[in-house]
Amino acid sequence: MSDSFESSTPSRKRSRWDHEVDEGDDQLLPTRQVSKRRSKPKTSKLSEYSNTPSPSTKSPVKPSIAAVRPRHSIYAPPRTLYPSLQPARSVYSYERLNQIEEGSYGVVFRARDKQTGDIVALKKLKLDEEKHGFPITALREINALMACRHENVVNIREVVVGDTLTQVFVVMDFIEHDLKTLITLMPAPFLQSEIKTLMLQLLSAVSHCHYHWILHRDLKTSNLLMNNRGTIKVADFGLARRYGDPIGVDGLTQLVVTLWYRAPEILLGATTYSTAIDIWSVGCIFAELLLKEPLFQAKSEMELISMIFKLLGPPTSSSWPDYTTLPLAKSITLPPQQSHGSGLRQRFSYLTNAGLNLLSKMLTYDPEQRITAEEAMQHPYFKESPLPKHPDLFGSFPSAAAGEKRRKPFDSPSAPQRLADYNLITDFDLP
Ligand SMILES: Nc1ncnc2c1ncn2[C@@H]1O[C@H](COP(=O)(O)OP(=O)(O)OP(=O)(O)O)[C@@H](O)[C@H]1O
Ligand SMILES: [Mg+2]
Repeated sequence: MSDSFESSTPSRKRSRWDHEVDEGDDQLLPTRQVSKRRSKPKTSKLSEYSNTPSPSTKSPVKPSIAAVRPRHSIYAPPRTLYPSLQPARSVYSYERLNQIEEGSYGVVFRARDKQTGDIVALKKLKLDEEKHGFPITALREINALMACRHENVVNIREVVVGDTLTQVFVVMDFIEHDLKTLITLMPAPFLQSEIKTLMLQLLSAVSHCHYHWILHRDLKTSNLLMNNRGTIKVADFGLARRYGDPIGVDGLTQLVVTLWYRAPEILLGATTYSTAIDIWSVGCIFAELLLKEPLFQAKSEMELISMIFKLLGPPTSSSWPDYTTLPLAKSITLPPQQSHGSGLRQRFSYLTNAGLNLLSKMLTYDPEQRITAEEAMQHPYFKESPLPKHPDLFGSFPSAAAGEKRRKPFDSPSAPQRLADYNLITDFDLP
């Protein structure tokens, strides 16, 4: 993993914490030295709001303006009246271990809590480009994570700050894998019994978010984390939003969901959409778990639309009554009709009828007819043999995020390709 930093971040705004490992270990400095550096009034605007006096206020020579200025707004009652409001802790409460990944909204680090020794993940939110205050994406991410606490949603521990107000980190439990990396690295696909367990966990998390009026809007395998105890945690709520909120004049943005997982109604320009967009993504994830590769690997929106039409057949007035009312529908020439669903059966020839039925209910054109997360959890696919495997029976894998390497990958000859396929079809392992 690279320890380099995002090129868009101007160096003066970088947190010293980001450099902890590169510059030499801050842990080795005496505590007083570290805290002295942090209490410099110039580097921490937050200290203006703190109740502890900073060194500058103690100066016997020249009382600075800061010394005579009240520590909080005269219009706001003092903090002590709100004991439940705690100031954010400093990122220096954590020892940086390694950088896990840099995504579009932030860099993710693995770190150790200096007090408890817990290993955590810190996502540094990208705030540097913001000229209009704290970005809404960051607020939504923090709010949604807090609103959707669940066994299968990554646990947010706290939000900590660095040297300046542009350095905000979300602290989460560290989870060993993301599903995308895992699928790429594992030699054989997940077993049917494992896919069922993962799908039930994912559906349970999605149903929980929807129950709390939150749309995730970016479900994909790289945003699904998995620990070594067979448990999935939905992560990356950077695009999440409350769907009960009043919708703006222009409706909801269409700039959501990574292309391959994007529902057809968004592709065709719908500005009002709902929980069904997440279910389409869940369908794409289900297919990816079965195929061990993404279902729709399109390079553009048009290519994606034609791939969907090819697999599912073009929409009809009965399969999608509102199709013609969508803004982009008129600009699309529909291909000739094929027999319904045959594309799916060909692509997933080893899947049972129940499995195929569930997949087609998730990849249903009409959002009104698409299955809900709650309904999907009750689907007969999860009740037929092989039953979902208990999470404790999942094997553990070396964690790429923790910098672990697969031990002697070529130690023993790998199973013949046919055998791997065989596992996928006739998985009789006990639950
Ligand atoms: N709690 C965590 N534990 C371990 N790894 C994590 C954790 N959170 C995120 N990651 C890793 O960091 C990656 C990026 O995180 P995340 O998806 O939250 O950031 P992002 O900037 O929104 O990404 P993108 O826009 O690429 O989806 C994840 O795919 C995962 O590999
Ligand atoms: Mg992500």
